[in-house]
Amino acid sequence: MFEPMGDLELKGLPEPVPSTRVIWEPLVDTGIGGDDDPDAVPVPAALLTGISAAYVGRTALLDQLDEHWRRTTEGTTRAVLLAGEPGVGKTRTAAELARRVHQQQGLVLYGRCEEGLGAPYQPYVEALDWYTAHRSADPVLGRLPGELARLLPDLATRVPGLAPPTASDPGSEEHRLFEAATSWLIEVANDERNTGLVLVLDDVHWATKPTLLLTLHLLRAASERQARLLVVVTYRDTDIGRAHPLSAILADLRRLPAVERTPVDNLTEAEVVTLMESAAGHEMDEAGLALSQVLYAETEGNPFFITEVLRHLIETGGVRREGDRWVPGDAERLVVPEGVRDVIGRRLSACPPPPTRCCRPARSWGATSTSACSSP
Ligand SMILES: Nc1ncnc2c1ncn2[C@@H]1O[C@H](COP(=O)(O)OP(=O)(O)OP(=O)(O)O)[C@@H](O)[C@H]1O
Ligand SMILES: [Mg+2]
Repeated sequence: MFEPMGDLELKGLPEPVPSTRVIWEPLVDTGIGGDDDPDAVPVPAALLTGISAAYVGRTALLDQLDEHWRRTTEGTTRAVLLAGEPGVGKTRTAAELARRVHQQQGLVLYGRCEEGLGAPYQPYVEALDWYTAHRSADPVLGRLPGELARLLPDLATRVPGLAPPTASDPGSEEHRLFEAATSWLIEVANDERNTGLVLVLDDVHWATKPTLLLTLHLLRAASERQARLLVVVTYRDTDIGRAHPLSAILADLRRLPAVERTPVDNLTEAEVVTLMESAAGHEMDEAGLALSQVLYAETEGNPFFITEVLRHLIETGGVRREGDRWVPGDAERLVVPEGVRDVIGRRLSACPPPPTRCCRPARSWGATSTSACSSP
């Protein structure tokens, strides 16, 4: 980014010259670039969008995920359910695991469920699309490759000579599709070209029922076949109460032996400081620490809130840049206007009603603003 600095008198030059400051931020290692193996399937781009600062904190959670991955590579199928409030860092945590797995020659596939989009099997469609677009040489397609075209009609053009899906009654077709998708993922997980497979299913609180049923089927079959498969499911637990149509299937999923529900919690006060230091590229001084305390108090350590508020402060001069340092203004005068509240509000629109502890009026954000939601 470039910022005009006006005319500066420079040593050795007779007249002042127009100057521009170059502002840079440390690059985050997303794991996309620098692949040693040009044939490796890259980490799905959708998993890595919007990353602007290094991953901070949560070492215990990452250790736990690393251990799941280690056991996966030894031939056990596992699933981790990353549950937490909106903006807490579920997708980012999955991305951090993906980065580590990719560095260890693991393959990562990703698919997201979208609000209001009733397309069945959507995350599986996305995963198959990424895989077949990037594993052009000799892709593994399982026992019933032709049936996969039901998920991704484009597959026939990518894979020459693919048999068309078998027409039958709807129940049988669905069964063959389950078999096809399951055997495809099991064979990819056990493919010698990678050390195992991480399949990230993001935003499952918006999944359709068939997507969850396929996930159950996959986990059962993969466990029997000792597939090196780690399924990472993320969902907003604030959105899934007992009356939610998916809660029964999620409960079935949780009952499988190799499935673990792992809460993702807000950042601690110290981690908020680390997040700010990582974004700023230097240690926080007294004013920075004061700002971090206000941020923590206002956001309860929710990283989405923190990054949005920081972005706003930088854009509006609440935090100034002097050289390559952040200089915060008066932390107590922190005011977040409608626009930023709207962004936060949209992210929290699915916030459950009381009695869940939620929607605390925020001190200097105005009486109608909301703060982080938390499950009971
Ligand atoms: N530990 C962390 N270190 C640095 N940044 C983080 C961390 N956790 C989350 N973030 C950042 O906070 C923002 C929100 O994180 P993320 O999108 O992962 O939340 P989420 O839980 O998936 O939310 P949603 O339920 O809306 O999908 C992102 O910009 C992300 O990069
Ligand atoms: Mg997310």
